[in-house]
Amino acid sequence: MPEKQNVPVVKAGDVTQRVGVEVIRVRGVDVEKLIKMLIANAAAEFASTYYYYTILRMHLAGHEDYKEICEDARLEDRAHWELIVPRIYELGGELPNDLPAFHDQAGCRAAKLPDPPTAVNILTLLLESERCAIRSWIEICDMTFGKDPRTYDMASRILNEEIEHEAWFIELLAHERDGKSIPSGHFRRGEPGHAPYSKNAGFYNP
Ligand SMILES: [Fe+2]
Ligand SMILES: [Fe+2]
Repeated sequence: MPEKQNVPVVKAGDVTQRVGVEVIRVRGVDVEKLIKMLIANAAAEFASTYYYYTILRMHLAGHEDYKEICEDARLEDRAHWELIVPRIYELGGELPNDLPAFHDQAGCRAAKLPDPPTAVNILTLLLESERCAIRSWIEICDMTFGKDPRTYDMASRILNEEIEHEAWFIELLAHERDGKSIPSGHFRRGEPGHAPYSKNAGFYNP
């Protein structure tokens, strides 16, 4: 069989290069840029949302239903973080060995507790954070579609959940702020932080 054209050969036993990276580079992925974007998205999942959503959820006291939805979104963002990090290392990248530096690279603004911390203000912040996540993940999908199936699969799983999160917070904010019913199609996850797409769990129908 003739050797594939344009594919640089990683020599047998060479541990300094990865065929898993080479093949996506050959297909047109800017791997360095992709690693940077994945680190920015990991920082957004971990710092901008998972960490700050913890504080936001605490302040939804008195709204047990809102707390529960916020908790699902919070834990699913942690699942996203867990999913992204191994991919960064597989691609030859690494996390900054400095937490403040990592935080500052986040692709989304920190979801800091609003003042005053009313349910409307918190839900607005949650909604806009999810929207930032959707925009960030679709960029990774666009960049990897048809070229890097592994990153694309991961990004599209995360995107599925971010789109659901947006729908949840539209429903809750419309209800809380405007007294309006805009259904998200959501009932509840099987258990908090179920993450049906990013944890590979079966979704909706057991
Ligand atoms: Fe997320
Ligand atoms: Fe989310």
